[in-house]
Amino acid sequence: MQNYTDMFRLDGRVAVVTGAGFGLGRAFALGLAAFGATVVCADRDMPNAEETVGLARQSHGKAEAAHVDVAEEASVDAFWDKLKADHGGLDILINNAGVTSLPTRTHELSIAEWDRVTNINLRGVFLCTRRALPMMMARKRGSIINIASIAGLLGYYPDFARLAANYSAAKAGVIGLTRQAAAEYAADGIRVNAIAPGWHGGTNLGAASRGRWTPEQTARAEAAIHAGIPMGRRGTPDDLVGLAVYLASDASSYLTGQVIAHDGGWSAV
Ligand SMILES: NC(=O)c1ccc[n+]([C@@H]2O[C@H](COP(=O)([O-])OP(=O)(O)OC[C@H]3O[C@@H](n4cnc5c(N)ncnc54)[C@H](O)[C@@H]3O)[C@@H](O)[C@H]2O)c1
Repeated sequence: MQNYTDMFRLDGRVAVVTGAGFGLGRAFALGLAAFGATVVCADRDMPNAEETVGLARQSHGKAEAAHVDVAEEASVDAFWDKLKADHGGLDILINNAGVTSLPTRTHELSIAEWDRVTNINLRGVFLCTRRALPMMMARKRGSIINIASIAGLLGYYPDFARLAANYSAAKAGVIGLTRQAAAEYAADGIRVNAIAPGWHGGTNLGAASRGRWTPEQTARAEAAIHAGIPMGRRGTPDDLVGLAVYLASDASSYLTGQVIAHDGGWSAV
């Protein structure tokens, strides 16, 4: 009989989490390390990546920091070359690094801002995934977890701009990439799933726009968010850890190509 208590363990697995220096990525990295994985905390912000590593080690986890800018081909290639040299292969990839724009209606969105966000949030996922796949194929196993957003599933406009179309379009693209890769690599033992988080606090995403709002605008935006969430609250980074460990581990061995909304019920009603 299967040892059910061990099915979430990740001992001996090598994991990469992009954007692990802060927010959701930090929680994913700490969660995978707590379950036994060796976690490479990849970020363009090295001091923050080092801080995540320090936190993992305080809890006796195995972690190391690495620099990557997921939107830059040369940086991504250098990162994966070093990963392969240092670890020999890869079992788990969480494509988490992402940014937003200031909330902007589509006709006011600049082309430069469209390119900046889609380059990180969609092209970056492709650049990392295309390097990770051959390493996973060599091991005949792997789990890729792409961090999309409910903005990739649903439009959102609570009578004022709260998002921008570059973000939503990139996240919808991540969902398409997830399903296509799941179909292509299932026979290679590689599973590809996406998490579509709803609103989660405790991260820096959108900090630039929050800094520009008046208290009244902030209160209006908060009220609009909470009104849309049946559970009546934002999520936290820690709320997401169990789902990430599940998707990374053998506990989800028959699950691929899925997009799991993690949103307090937002997208269900
Ligand atoms: N917080 C939410 O409510 C929420 C909701 C839906 C989806 N998401 C997604 O979750 C992911 C993490 O967001 P977060 O809220 O933790 O944001 P965050 O800003 O707190 O953290 C993002 C991390 O990614 C890193 N990063 C940004 N651009 C990078 C690049 N080009 N290369 C490497 N690293 C880069 C940052 O340095 C930072 O450490 C993003 O993909 C975001 O779109 C977040």
